[in-house]
Amino acid sequence: MIEVVQTDITRLAVDAIVNAANSSLLGGGGVDGAIHRAAGPELLEACRPLGGCPTGEARITPGFHLPAKWVIHTVGPVWHGGGEGEPELLAACYRNSLELALENGVRTIAFPSISTGVYGYPKEGAAKVAVAMMRNYEARFERIIACCFGDVDYGLYRDLVGGIE
Ligand code: AR6
Repeated sequence: MIEVVQTDITRLAVDAIVNAANSSLLGGGGVDGAIHRAAGPELLEACRPLGGCPTGEARITPGFHLPAKWVIHTVGPVWHGGGEGEPELLAACYRNSLELALENGVRTIAFPSISTGVYGYPKEGAAKVAVAMMRNYEARFERIIACCFGDVDYGLYRDLVGGIE
């Protein structure tokens, strides 16, 4: 089932959290910075030999000092107006992260709203892509969590998932 929560993703005790990384996989700001800070310097050392990651793909590392066992790093598209394959690339981020999770025995997974911060993807369109792909996979996981940081995202995801409160 899909759950919508509003919290800092680094606090979630799930099998895997997803990182909205950049193609270097060597850290950055936003959720990427928060994940690297909480996981500790071992995370950067684990990312370095991966040699980066193209947009739309995903890579996995341990979570080190995080409550999560794994971090799945995916690289969202930078928003250029929507005509450069951004929706397909964003969908690929969710699909490739979920496939990699299944390959690694992950049963519970949490996603931030990929690309909607520094990368500028409009929040509503991004939430629709995210929830559509989560629905494709929900039967194969115990929990898929949409981890919202701000109130706007929380409202958007709640409406899309149709939660009761
Ligand atoms: N927990 C959950 N969500 C968070 C957290 C957190 N601790 N911190 C921020 N968010 P962004 P992007 C939300 O900018 O747009 C980095 O520098 C945030 O509110 O982190 O994919 C990377 O290295 C927003 O909704 O990622 C890349 O260079 C969402 O996470 C670049 O930013 C994504 O915002 C990637 O940009």
